[in-house]
This record gives sequence, C-alpha cells and structure tokens, in this order.
Amino acid sequence: MKAHVLLSPLNADELFFSEKTTVVIDVLRATSSVVAALQNGAREVIPVETMEFAMKISGGQNILAGERNSAKIEGFDFGNSPLEFTEEATAGKSVIFYTTNGSKALVRAKFSKNLFVASYLNITAVAEKLIELNEDFLILCAGDNGMFSLEDTLCAGKLIEIIDSKTSGLELTDAAKASLKLNSVCGEDILGTLKETEHGKELLEAGFEKDLEFISQIDFTDIVPFLESGAIKIKVKEEDKAD
Ligand code: MLT
Repeated sequence: MKAHVLLSPLNADELFFSEKTTVVIDVLRATSSVVAALQNGAREVIPVETMEFAMKISGGQNILAGERNSAKIEGFDFGNSPLEFTEEATAGKSVIFYTTNGSKALVRAKFSKNLFVASYLNITAVAEKLIELNEDFLILCAGDNGMFSLEDTLCAGKLIEIIDSKTSGLELTDAAKASLKLNSVCGEDILGTLKETEHGKELLEAGFEKDLEFISQIDFTDIVPFLESGAIKIKVKEEDKAD
C-alpha cells in the first residue's frame, strides 16, 4: 500500500482522480463540517462548485450551507461552522454545500473510485477504512485558493502516522513523507497549531474560536463519509447491500 499527498488541488484535474482511492481533507472547516452534519443525522451532503448551482438545486427539505470569506452567504440557511449542523437542524435533511476550497476539492475528486472525507474528528475511522481496503491511496489537501495550507497537511500526516502504526510496509511518496515529518514536528498540539495557521487566525478574528476547539478533537466520531453519485453519505443504499 502506498500513500501519496497532494498538497493542493491546483495541479490535478478531474480525470487525474479516476481509478484512485482519494481522501479529501479541509480541516478548516469544510470536511469537519461534513463530518459533523452526517454524524448528526444529515441524509447526505451534496458538495457543489458554485454558489449559483447551490441556489439552483436548493429547495424543499434541503439545507443550503456554505461560506464566502468564512461568512454565511446571503440567502443561505447555514454558514460553514460545524457547530451549526446540530441534530435538531440537520437530521434527515440533504445539505447543499458550497465553500471556497473544500466543496470544490470534493467535486474535483468526484471521479475517484473511492472518495472518503476526513478531518481530525474521524481520522482513525478513515485510517482503518484505508487499511481494510489495502490499496494505494491519495490524500487531497483542499488548501487555500490553490496554495498550501498547514492544517490540511498536518492532518494528512496524522492520517499516515495512524495507518503506519497499524500496518507494516506502508510506502510513502515524498509529499507523504513530508506531511508525516511535519506532523511529527508540530502536530501534537492540534488546537494550538490551528490557532497559528493563516486561516485559523482569520477564523479567530471572525469569532469562530469555538469552531477551532471543536475541529481539533481527534476521533470525535467513527463515521467514514464517502461520495456516491455526487452525494456524501455514511450509509450504503439498501439496494446496494449484499444479501
Ligand atoms: C473552505 O472551504 O475554504 C473553508 O471551509 C472555509 C471556511 O473556513 O469556512
């Protein structure tokens, strides 16, 4: 099994992902919010690339959620705070989800053979899923407008560290090695490090300290969200289940 990390989605088009097993990470905050919504009973989360498309497909029992410059978008029901996706607000609902980097990275990787959604909140569960699959995998860091972001790379390194501790013979590309090393240097104090990242500082300034506290929890849940037909879920459709 070989691990690779894409430090930003910039150099990969949609076809790059076909036949790959991909894990998408946007710690602050998109994939943490997806995990929170599904953990609290959302039926599915539908990531979209544009605000216009989000508006177009919203309606009925859907929740329209997302952000621009970290703030809730006018006309949307929710922003992109994982704390908004409470059980009361989300259970049984479809969440149409638009964000600056995270939802776009999820859409970019949509042709993956397997696409999983990871954050610190569900990191060991995703690690165990990858071990079970026992295939080469690619971790896609959503980054920040095509640029490197420390928090996604650290989370990628942590994911690799957990897999490496539970298996033998894990091969690493240079980017995977770099992520693992970086995590060993500054991945211990997750909350402290998140507060020091560029986006973490912006979120603190915007009053989202509680989000950072929530997002920094390791293994808050054991769900492994996956993308199927454009929607992120945690349950396989009844008709797809083996007898
Ligand atoms: C993104 O997708 O860029 C982020 O989730 C932004 C945010 O913190 O809301």
